[in-house]
Amino acid sequence: MKKVYIETMGCQMNKSDTERMLGILEHFGYTATEDEKSADLLIINTCSIRQLSEDKAFSKIGLWGKRKRKGADIKIGFCGCVAKQKGAEIFKRAPYVDFVMAPDEIAQLPEILGCGSAPDTAPKRSKSVNAWIPIMNGCNNFCTYCIVPYTRGRERSREPEVILKEAREAIAQGFKEITLLGQNVDSFIGGENYKLPRLLRDLNAIEGKFRIRFVTSYPTDITDELIAAAAELDKVCEYFHIPMQSGSTEILKAMNRRYTREEYVQICAKVRTAIPDVTITSDFIAGFPGETEEQFLETLSVMDELELDYCNTAAYSPREKTVAAAWTDKFLSKEVKNERLARLNEHTRKNCLKSNKKFVGRTLEILAEGFEEGVLTGRTRNNKIVHIPCERDLTGEFLDVKITGATTWYLRGALQA
Ligand code: SAH
Ligand code: SF4
Ligand code: F3S
Repeated sequence: MKKVYIETMGCQMNKSDTERMLGILEHFGYTATEDEKSADLLIINTCSIRQLSEDKAFSKIGLWGKRKRKGADIKIGFCGCVAKQKGAEIFKRAPYVDFVMAPDEIAQLPEILGCGSAPDTAPKRSKSVNAWIPIMNGCNNFCTYCIVPYTRGRERSREPEVILKEAREAIAQGFKEITLLGQNVDSFIGGENYKLPRLLRDLNAIEGKFRIRFVTSYPTDITDELIAAAAELDKVCEYFHIPMQSGSTEILKAMNRRYTREEYVQICAKVRTAIPDVTITSDFIAGFPGETEEQFLETLSVMDELELDYCNTAAYSPREKTVAAAWTDKFLSKEVKNERLARLNEHTRKNCLKSNKKFVGRTLEILAEGFEEGVLTGRTRNNKIVHIPCERDLTGEFLDVKITGATTWYLRGALQA
C-alpha cells in the first residue's frame, strides 16, 4: 500500500484542495498518513501570500530533499500557490522535486503520477464536523499588494448543481456544518440571477440540522440581498469575515480597494443592524508602502470604532509581479512595520476580549468540534470558540451552553441540563 503525506500551508482553499488531492489519490490506492517518515509520496501544498510563507515551503522541502539524497525512495510534489507563481523555476532551486503542480491542475494529478486519468472522486475530508465546499476560485480585484490574482487566476464559479450535490452528500454523511469558500465568496455567480443569496436559500432548504457559513466577503460585494438572506435563513450563521486592510481612505485607494473608510463602516453597520449578535472579523496590513503614522492611527481607530470581533494582521510583504512591490522608495523599515503590527495585535486582543465578555451569562447553542482531557470544544453560531468541562466526547452534537467566562481567545461554558 502506497502512503501519501501532504503538508498544507495557507488558507482554507488550500486545505480544501488538499482534501481533493487525497480523494483522488485514495482512488489510486494511496492511503493518507500523518507520519511523513513513512510516506512514499510527499506533497507540499504551498502559500505565497507573504515572503515568509514561501520561505517556509522551501525550507520544508529542503528536509525532504536531504532524505532523498541519502537514498530514501520517495517522490516529492510541489503544489499550491507558489507552484503556480514560480512554475519550472522550482526545479532549479529544488532539483529533487519530482513534479510541480498548480492549484488549477489538481485534476491532472493521476496523469502527473503516471497512474491513469482522474475519476470524479469525492474529497477526503479532514474534519468530521465541518465540510468545506469551494464555490468560486480566483480573483479579479488586483489589490496592489496581493499575489492571489496571479496564483489563482481570474474568478470562476462552480455550478450550483455541483455545489448542492456536494452539500447534500456531506449532510447525508453526517457533517453538521458547511463552509462555502471563495477568495471573494460574495462574487459567486452560478448563472443568471443566481448569486450567493440564492445559493444560500437553496442550501438552507436541504433537510436536516446543520449550519452554513461563507468566507471571505469582499466588502462592497455584500449586497442588501445577501444581508437579508443571512438574517432570515435559519441555518446561515451570524458571522461575516470582511477584510478591510486599512482604516485610511488614502491607503485603501493606493491598495486599489474599491471602498472608502466610511463605506466600509456603513456596510458593517448594515450587517450589525440586520443581524443581532453577528460577529464581524477582518484583516489588516501594517506598514503598506507610504503609510504614515497618521494613516496607521486611522486603522487603529476604525478597529475600535467598529469593535471588530477579531482581526488577522500582517506586516506588508512585497510580492513579485504586484504593483506595490515596485514602490521601493515608499517601503517602510522592518522595525516600523513590526512596531505597527504589534499595535494592531494589541487592539485586536483588546476588542476580542471586549466582544467575548458580552456573552457571559447568555445561553448559546454550540456545535461540539472536539474533545480532549475532559474539555469539549465547540463553536457558537457567531463563531466564538467555547471550552466546556465535560465527561463525554459529544463531538458533532448541538448543545445549549451557559457562558460562564470569557478570555481573549475563547469563552468558557457549562452544559445546560
Ligand atoms: N480576498 C480577500 C483576502 C485574501 S488574502 C480579500 O480581499 O479581502 C488574505 C489576507 O492576506 C488579506 O486580506 C491581506 O490582509 C493579507 N495579505 C495579502 N497580501 C499581503 C501582502 N503582500 N503582505 C501582507 N499581507 C497580505
Ligand atoms: Fe487579494 Fe485583493 Fe483579491 Fe483579496 S480581493 S484575493 S486581497 S487581490
Ligand atoms: Fe490561499 Fe495563500 Fe494561495 S492565502 S489562495 S494559499 S497564496
